[in-house]
Amino acid sequence: MYEQRVVSGMRPTGMLHLGHYHGAIKNWVRLQSEYPCLFFVADWHALTTHYDTPEVIEQHVWDMVIDWLAAGIDPAQAVLFIQSRIPEHAELHTLLSMITPLGWLERVPTYKDQQEKLSDRDLSTYGFLGYPLLQSADVLIYRAKFVPVGEDQVPHVELMREIARRFNHVYGREPGFEDKARAAAKKMGSRKAKLYAQLRNRYQEQGDVEALAAARALLVEQQNLSVGDRERLFGFLEGGGRLILVEPDVMLTESSKLPGLDGQKMSKSYDNTIGLREEAQSVTRKIRTMPTDPARVKRTDPGDPAKCPVWEFHLVYSNDKTRAWAEQGCRSAGIGCLECKQPVIDAVLAEQTPMRERAQKYLDDPTLVRNIVADGGEKARRLAHETMREVREAMGLSYS
Ligand code: TRP
Ligand code: SF4
Repeated sequence: MYEQRVVSGMRPTGMLHLGHYHGAIKNWVRLQSEYPCLFFVADWHALTTHYDTPEVIEQHVWDMVIDWLAAGIDPAQAVLFIQSRIPEHAELHTLLSMITPLGWLERVPTYKDQQEKLSDRDLSTYGFLGYPLLQSADVLIYRAKFVPVGEDQVPHVELMREIARRFNHVYGREPGFEDKARAAAKKMGSRKAKLYAQLRNRYQEQGDVEALAAARALLVEQQNLSVGDRERLFGFLEGGGRLILVEPDVMLTESSKLPGLDGQKMSKSYDNTIGLREEAQSVTRKIRTMPTDPARVKRTDPGDPAKCPVWEFHLVYSNDKTRAWAEQGCRSAGIGCLECKQPVIDAVLAEQTPMRERAQKYLDDPTLVRNIVADGGEKARRLAHETMREVREAMGLSYS
């Protein structure tokens, strides 16, 4: 509500593959020029499921950051950092845990789902139960407006909203709130204070949502308000108390879904991936040996693209003309499968070449990567400090 800030994180699970790229990172690259973005490595979240393999965390972290940079995440536009370098995330997690009903966490669908799916792992820990609460702290600490994530994470963002609402409800009702809000409005100058009061009335008396939007826009523009006053005015607008934490919205990734080489979801555990920066030779070999419609045993057998994983690659990588050529050629047995795969191979390699080039610079000089996350960490920390000052004060922990 301050700026339309975007926050997202990713667990460091090793080198990224093209499924990650098309499912998430490509979207981040687009967002970084449209919004102020913070992207971070969720290394604590990785420990919730992999606490027993600390030796791989660090390598995975650096590999992943290099993959982001290779994919086109630009540290001059987006803030990149590592979660554990901003311990305030953990502080906020602890403070939020005080007001989080246990049932809210037990009810998050991923909690039981993952326990069933990953039954070989020990997920009976407190950390795992708290996973979505830590995630809430990750986002709320930056007062983010949008969280770009996949479908599976929607309940986590819903939890963030509930937590923010509860926090504001419990701690935003300071004594003398209305008087403080009116005094804050005056600080905008009498003309703007009057406009604010009019818009607030229109919203509260007639439910006029355009007036609400206009009033919010007015507040966003005010440079001379303190954070506390701004929170009061946002809260006063809607009739509650101060809005100390912002309720974020999910920003669903309309992902062009790229399946794995065998048509299942692309995933390291299925051994069906193409690495983001994988060697051209190896990529070519993998695509050439991809399974196709099993009905095409001989070159002369017609096929059905709907039964072929290569077709899914065409849907992501080919233009209409090439798709029409492949579909027609497949159904009529006019082309062979290797022929059909060639434009896909070309397109994948063309996508990867600039990524490998960008990565090389960072592989040659790892201090570049260290500096990028150090800088990003500093920027993130500044924002986190601002929120934590408010949160501590609201919870009676400021000891001034
Ligand atoms: N849980 C997310 C995932 O598995 C990763 C994550 C951690 C995250 N913290 C976040 C995503 C905050 C968005 C915002 O993909
Ligand atoms: Fe798949 Fe193309 Fe072969 Fe058809 S021609 S089965 S779409 S690879």
